[in-house]
Amino acid sequence: MTTETLPVLAILGGTGDLGTGLARRWAQVGYQVIIGSRTQEKAEAAVADLREVMAERGVAEISVQAMENLAAAEAADIVAITVPFSHQASTLEQVKSALTGKILIDVTVPLVPPKVARVQLPEGGSAGQIAQDLLGEEVAVVSAFQNVAAAHLQEGSGLDCDVLVCGNKKAAREEVIKLVEAAGMRGFHAGMINNAAAAEALTSVLIVINKQYNCHAGIRITGLDA
Ligand SMILES: NC(=O)c1ccc[n+]([C@@H]2O[C@H](COP(=O)([O-])OP(=O)(O)OC[C@H]3O[C@@H](n4cnc5c(N)ncnc54)[C@H](OP(=O)(O)O)[C@@H]3O)[C@@H](O)[C@H]2O)c1
Repeated sequence: MTTETLPVLAILGGTGDLGTGLARRWAQVGYQVIIGSRTQEKAEAAVADLREVMAERGVAEISVQAMENLAAAEAADIVAITVPFSHQASTLEQVKSALTGKILIDVTVPLVPPKVARVQLPEGGSAGQIAQDLLGEEVAVVSAFQNVAAAHLQEGSGLDCDVLVCGNKKAAREEVIKLVEAAGMRGFHAGMINNAAAAEALTSVLIVINKQYNCHAGIRITGLDA
């Protein structure tokens, strides 16, 4: 039996709420994780925090490093971008040269503050589509995690939530579905990158539900055979 080598993962803007959640989930199950930031100091602080949280959970050995965003993207096999929509394009421009031939996981929800509970998709169609257009077909952009609350990802317990995974390349979607599963959720092929618009729009609907019912709502796909 062969043992599959796990890809090295970079999380750009991995110091933030969603990036912290993904880092905890992936580091906890043995992935080598690089926390990317605009500054080395902030990345190091996030790594120190991650080590502390893992120690509290009884996870002694984790493989995690701190780097600036470009170095993180260069050193990784798969790169996730977890920055606000207003900084998505500028961050991608900075790391574009390091992404050729790689998968970029885009978690961006193109919210327009202050009316974040209203669906207001960008002219480019969706954040996922914008990323794919900006990076070109040499980069496999896969959109995922838009409908998962960072608060739930950061917790150590199970996640009662599914993830829609969109991207133009099926093999790239498969890789990201493995990472969704590693993070404790079910991931579903949800079509080409155009369809990222649906997951991104759904987040504003979830924000309405969160406010109305005082929760961190997620989505569930039903009707599947066991
Ligand atoms: N929070 C959630 O529950 C949630 C759920 C689903 C999807 N999302 C999406 O995930 C993404 C990140 O959300 P978040 O809540 O984690 O955001 P956040 O905590 O506000 O910010 C994430 C990181 O973005 C970086 N950043 C801030 N300003 C920047 C700038 N001007 N240029 C480049 N990088 C900048 C910062 O990293 P450094 O200062 O270290 O560079 C920051 O730690 C968003 O697109 C959001 O729509 C969030």
